[in-house]
Amino acid sequence: MASHLKSMLLPNGRTELCNSVLPALLDCISDIAKSLRESQHVSQAGTTNAFGDSQLNVDIAAENLIRTALAKCPSVLTASSEEEPVERPASDGRTVDDVSPTSEKYTVAFDPLDGSSIIAPNWTVGTIIGIWDGASAIHQQPSEKQIGAVLGIYGPRTTAIIALRVPGSEPCCLEIGVGGSGTQDHQVIRSNVQLADPPFTTRYFAPANLRAAAESENYMRLITKYMEKKYTLRYSGGLVPDVVHALVKGHGVYLSPVTGASEAKLRRLYELFPIALIVECAGGKAIDPVDGEDILSRPLENCDETAGLVCGTAEEVDIAKSALLHA
Ligand SMILES: *[C@@H]1O[C@H](CO)[C@@H](O)[C@H](O)[C@H]1NC(C)=O
Repeated sequence: MASHLKSMLLPNGRTELCNSVLPALLDCISDIAKSLRESQHVSQAGTTNAFGDSQLNVDIAAENLIRTALAKCPSVLTASSEEEPVERPASDGRTVDDVSPTSEKYTVAFDPLDGSSIIAPNWTVGTIIGIWDGASAIHQQPSEKQIGAVLGIYGPRTTAIIALRVPGSEPCCLEIGVGGSGTQDHQVIRSNVQLADPPFTTRYFAPANLRAAAESENYMRLITKYMEKKYTLRYSGGLVPDVVHALVKGHGVYLSPVTGASEAKLRRLYELFPIALIVECAGGKAIDPVDGEDILSRPLENCDETAGLVCGTAEEVDIAKSALLHA
């Protein structure tokens, strides 16, 4: 794993990203997996986050593990999370204009534990992390400044997907088997995660926010078309495992449309941007179903913006786009 990252990142002067930030995040995913395994109960912590969602004990544990890990990475100047959506110094005593020991300066934006609604039945949940060049993600061009994304997937196994799009090098997407806590024994499962080209013998669809089909004729028609064409449903209700399903199988489409009555729920900074980078680095597309624009095309005005999502195999995203935007 380490040598793979080194060959990619070190020629581009990304010493800290390679030796500090990414290893710290992978270790953290291992620690979160362990903390989940050891949590007999997943219970309300009695608090709500800034979005008004009630917090679980395991959300808070994951948040704290990531914050602690980032505080030890000197190149990470600022961090913000879905639990605390304000960019602030990643450690006490570090300021946003600190000169880091190398020329590298990062801000990290993360959703510590995505899938709160399916965690009690012990379904697969995930962590979503975006790594940005500079001390802020706000008003930056997401397609250029978000240079890395990491997903942690906590199921029967713990795995991670890393995507990197560092200026000067080819974009890449890899799948990692995450070792046990403290062992730092992470291994590359696949060094080049790529969505396949057609033809496909099966086609997968993951229709999130399916209730919106009751209000949107276009969504209803698209779902009906998937069924008529005998697509295979693969949907758990966890954004991370549902998107990772397509990445592992090599094709598929994930849809979370927005209608008047069912508004956008996915956070651009903490969910959509990292997922979009990963899907793009795997050769797919990620668009906003409202206007068909790439998720990564529009800068962020503030940390709590939300939107819908269509992502996956480029051909499938184009089909869904024209169906959903059909006047
Ligand atoms: C949850 O599932 C994991 C395997 O995915 C298992 O190791 C663990 O014991 C399960 N926990 C509970 C409380 O069912």
